[in-house]
Amino acid sequence: MLERLERLARAHWRGFLVSFAASIAYNIVAAVLEARQTRVSLTGYNYKYEEICPNPELKVIRLIELHPAESEDESIQIYLRTVSLLDPERHRYEAISYCWGDPTVTECIRCGGSVLWITTNLFTALRRFRHKDRSRLLWADAICINQSDNDEKSSQVRMMTDIYRNADHVLIWLGEEEHYSELLDKFVPRLLEAKQRREEARDQRNLLQINRQVRDLYRLPPIADPGYRGLLRITSRPWFRRVWIIQEIATAREGLLCCGEWVMPWESFKEAWVFAVEDLGLGIALSHILGESINSVSRLGWAQYSVSNGLPQPILQLLAYHRDAEATKPEDKIFALAGIATDGGTQIEINYSKSVSQVYRDTALATMMSDQNLDILSLSAYQTGVNDLNLPSWVPDWRTNEVPIPLMLRSVHGASIFEFRATGESKCSPTVSSEGALGLQGYIIDKVAVTGNFAKYRRPRTLFASIWHHWDDAINYGEWDQISEAHSGKTYEPTGESILDVFWQCLLVGLHEHGFEQQRREFEAFDQTYPRQKLVNSLPIPHRWPPFKILYGVISTILSLDLMFNVLRREARDHSFAQKLATIRGRRMIKTKEGFLGMATGDVKVDDSIVLLRGGHVPFVARKMADGSQHHILVGDCYLHGLMHGGAWNPERCEAMWFL
Ligand SMILES: *[C@@H]1O[C@H](CO)[C@@H](O)[C@H](O)[C@H]1NC(C)=O
Ligand SMILES: *[C@@H]1O[C@H](CO)[C@@H](O)[C@H](O)[C@H]1NC(C)=O
Repeated sequence: MLERLERLARAHWRGFLVSFAASIAYNIVAAVLEARQTRVSLTGYNYKYEEICPNPELKVIRLIELHPAESEDESIQIYLRTVSLLDPERHRYEAISYCWGDPTVTECIRCGGSVLWITTNLFTALRRFRHKDRSRLLWADAICINQSDNDEKSSQVRMMTDIYRNADHVLIWLGEEEHYSELLDKFVPRLLEAKQRREEARDQRNLLQINRQVRDLYRLPPIADPGYRGLLRITSRPWFRRVWIIQEIATAREGLLCCGEWVMPWESFKEAWVFAVEDLGLGIALSHILGESINSVSRLGWAQYSVSNGLPQPILQLLAYHRDAEATKPEDKIFALAGIATDGGTQIEINYSKSVSQVYRDTALATMMSDQNLDILSLSAYQTGVNDLNLPSWVPDWRTNEVPIPLMLRSVHGASIFEFRATGESKCSPTVSSEGALGLQGYIIDKVAVTGNFAKYRRPRTLFASIWHHWDDAINYGEWDQISEAHSGKTYEPTGESILDVFWQCLLVGLHEHGFEQQRREFEAFDQTYPRQKLVNSLPIPHRWPPFKILYGVISTILSLDLMFNVLRREARDHSFAQKLATIRGRRMIKTKEGFLGMATGDVKVDDSIVLLRGGHVPFVARKMADGSQHHILVGDCYLHGLMHGGAWNPERCEAMWFL
């Protein structure tokens, strides 16, 4: 018996080794063949751009004429033509929207008689877009613009919205097939048909609420269908995170989504995605796993809707809203959005010869000047020690996304989420001194007396990370509860409200989305979990001990998942307070000398000043600079309950204050 087993094991072991070796050999041969295909054949001089007419009135651009090829293996051959956008009928072209990918990994193509190096991602796109029998006219930034010529780049980027608006199609290149994406070609139409049947039946139930018969009636694919996975996974591709795509999609006449071998209208994809994620409820069910990619499609949809309906899109809102979108060059975080802004966007000068810090500083000042308020200051949150660009504290560093929710934010469709008027209707008139200090009018109204724990930024990309943070959150609420004496039954002096009401309004930094009564009910439901936390708090264990944190996190996650499914089945209503607490990420609770309670940005310290500034919709936290000068550091904005609506504002006390 044993002998037989041993023989079997040995045979298997040998078989395994042989197949392993064979697969290595196969990979090596494939890699060599591929390298020969794409790299060996092209030699020659590097392509040199011809100068393009710099007169912006003539709107001259270059177009790629992509030559046909019978097979994929033939090397890519293009010509560059210069044409004027003023003459759109003569040159029908399509614009490519793609993601650069690693700029150091390149492939070469033939341009006329010379060679041109482009990133691998663009290379695969061109290979797929090539017709068999005729050439194709295309526009792609990396080829059509000389990326090392700052003047040309600035003037071409200013034309970008026109370039995409004039294109017959915008070809969105997502890359080759991966993670079930090959199924989408068939899956998306199936989903859209099911959507139609469900709509005809006027059914609004989500996937968990309908049974199998109903599902079969609509011919809706079951939840186990890998097509859903393909649909959700595809939005985690890098293209969806790029900042440039917002303008490229928003201004497109017709977008075509291209992935591997299939092409489908962007509109169909968007519709299917929104159907699956919002109508069928996959978004709530999978928010733990999908993380932020869940917002990318609806965000693009909004940008499209706003542009095509001419809705106002101030540059400040665009910048705040798309802050986590990615750009290879830091200045592109601004330049990529300036083109679709409906206000001061035009005052932002697209100029690649300026340094990044100059661009950021000029943008901050330009928006303050044109809006006559200090909303932009809410977008910078000072952090000790992280400032390699040497930006003054009043200039937002757009490279980082780790700032608390700014207290000026509006929702996507422009409705206000916060409505603060801490200094009435006053307007600002900023000046900048020769050393770069920002001069404003204002005065110190209070000092910080107590600061609480810091609510860490959380990017729960993984289930594990979100489990890990459950316990930290619990400790924070416990501590803030003590600082504010929330459950003491006392009255809050500044406004006469009950302290518990003030406590939860502080946790939401004054968010008024769903009305006072409903938010209070939501808080009360949330507050019932407090005894559980208090109980755990009183257990004689070291609370920051990792195994304990994990255990606590797992239990809380299970409880919250359970709650979530109840909400999906429409059996519970009030699970949203915990979700709304995203409002305080990056903040600490503070109490002032005068007894105000509120939330300030993470770097706040005891003895910092609370200042009211002309044109500021909210109070700010400022700190005297250590060098003994009269200058201040702007630490960040703050929510102080009872100070947000102008009752304490006295313009006569204003004097000049300088911020560096
Ligand atoms: C791009 O422009 C720069 C600056 O004008 C020039 O030096 C460079 O040769 C140009 N590159 C190509 C490939 O023509
Ligand atoms: C771009 O910025 C540079 C450096 O600040 C400046 O010299 C140049 O004049 C600017 N270009 C334009 C077109 O304004």
